Amino acid sequence: MFLLILSSVFLLQFGNTSLLPRSVFKLLLVNGTVYLRSNVQNELKLPFFSSESSQVDAQTPVKNGDFTCHKPNYGKKMCIYRQPSLDSCDADQALLRVYMYDLPSEFHFGLLGWKGKPNQVWPEINDSNRIPVYPGGLNLQHSMEYWLTLDLLSSNMPSVVRPCAAIRVMNSSQADIIFVPFFASLSYNRHSKLRGKEKVSVNKLLQNKLVKFLTAQNEWKRFGGKDHLIVAHHPNSMLDARGKLGAAMFVLADFGRYPAEIANIEKDVIAPYRHVVKTIRSADSAPFEKRPILVFFQGAIYRKDGGTIRQELYYLLKDEKDVHFAFGTIQGNGVNQAGHGMASSKFCLNIAGDTPSSNRLFDAIVSHCVPVIISDEIELPFEDVIDYSEICIFVRGSDAVKKGYLLNLLRGITKDQWTKMWENLKETVRHYQYQYPSQPCDAVDMIWEAVARKVSSIRLRIHRENRYRRSERIK
Ligand SMILES: *[C@@H]1O[C@H](CO)[C@@H](O)[C@H](O)[C@H]1NC(C)=O
Ligand SMILES: *[C@@H]1O[C@H](CO)[C@@H](O)[C@H](O)[C@H]1NC(C)=O
Ligand SMILES: *[C@@H]1O[C@H](CO)[C@@H](O)[C@H](O)[C@H]1NC(C)=O
Repeated sequence: MFLLILSSVFLLQFGNTSLLPRSVFKLLLVNGTVYLRSNVQNELKLPFFSSESSQVDAQTPVKNGDFTCHKPNYGKKMCIYRQPSLDSCDADQALLRVYMYDLPSEFHFGLLGWKGKPNQVWPEINDSNRIPVYPGGLNLQHSMEYWLTLDLLSSNMPSVVRPCAAIRVMNSSQADIIFVPFFASLSYNRHSKLRGKEKVSVNKLLQNKLVKFLTAQNEWKRFGGKDHLIVAHHPNSMLDARGKLGAAMFVLADFGRYPAEIANIEKDVIAPYRHVVKTIRSADSAPFEKRPILVFFQGAIYRKDGGTIRQELYYLLKDEKDVHFAFGTIQGNGVNQAGHGMASSKFCLNIAGDTPSSNRLFDAIVSHCVPVIISDEIELPFEDVIDYSEICIFVRGSDAVKKGYLLNLLRGITKDQWTKMWENLKETVRHYQYQYPSQPCDAVDMIWEAVARKVSSIRLRIHRENRYRRSERIK
């Protein structure tokens, strides 16, 4: 029976022409035992562990149950691969112990229209049919608030198989980090306009309530909020509250609309946008010669700040035959067209718009189209573990607008050089996937790891402030 399952698993996992879509079954191998789970949402293939040699697709064990992510062409340790545990994750094993406020549902799932029973703060998330759905379209770009919250909720559920990166603890004094479950981007996207007789928008109201709530908590007062984690990925989210809550660690898209004392790379974490185009399967990804378009760009031409470079590039590139340069935001069927365009292109431009970052970079990555980043102020997720020069081309804005510069540069990149970057891209795609349940080295896992890497610097700041506390108390 075991061999039968194992061989069918091999067929499912490794056959390029498998009969079933890869996403239908998931393989788990724990202590030499194969587990198959059906999971329709997940796009990620788990590394396969053979029962004999313990790993085929992963590197040397680091310690019990932990493996480094294997990067066949990339060579570097990208994230700690934690074998998904079939038992619930225990607080001692987890990288990060997280306390989450039981904020009323109006701050989170209530914004998705979810209504619990009286006194029920959180939806039941062990049944995927009952998980409130995050709205699709462009809202999804900033949905990490939702994925992170779901992951924390599931961290105490034995029925959910996930990497043991973060675990929710119920006692805040045992926590490394205090998570604030406010869906700030959704609140901005859906509730910043006044409705009916409202004098103040729901988005403003919630932020004011949040500031009042947080600053009254002992958990906040303890370290002045420094160990709090607030997700504010949409550049306009938390506009009213960010100044007052600026001591906390933020999860952001970039720092474009923040003063440096409120948000900066020392304190905060950059999270990838959720891509809006579909992920290309590695097996279906077109190689160099099957990508007829050299350079692809689609986006709004008129941007408020910093976006003039788009117009200049448009005039430089519009008459080139192997360049696709089109204007207009992508929505509806445009998403499919853009995805198709990117998957048929060798290079995809990411030009600064009214913010330094956009989901376009992540759309390019999941299309395996080598990103060309022309945005001097961009911040990139997990850059302390990912060397973006191995998957992207960076061009300074001042160079990009020189006549002939960009196309000469890109035409000068050989097929071999391009193919190396394409292979690297395919390896990194998993770091930009948001999904539930979270899978090893996906975006949720990577964000928790990035947060964990900041914890010691938070403690350092707290301890330094403590230096003279005792003598001040005695005095
Ligand atoms: C794996 O094996 C070890 C040692 O035999 C055991 O302690 C652990 O509980 C096992 N884990 C699972 C998930 O079965
Ligand atoms: C989900 O959890 C609840 C209690 O938290 C339990 O009553 C219910 O049976 C569980 N459902 C599934 C599908 O496991
Ligand atoms: C929370 O943890 C602290 C420190 O471990 C302990 O002193 C306290 O009693 C705990 N509180 C509760 C309610 O369990």
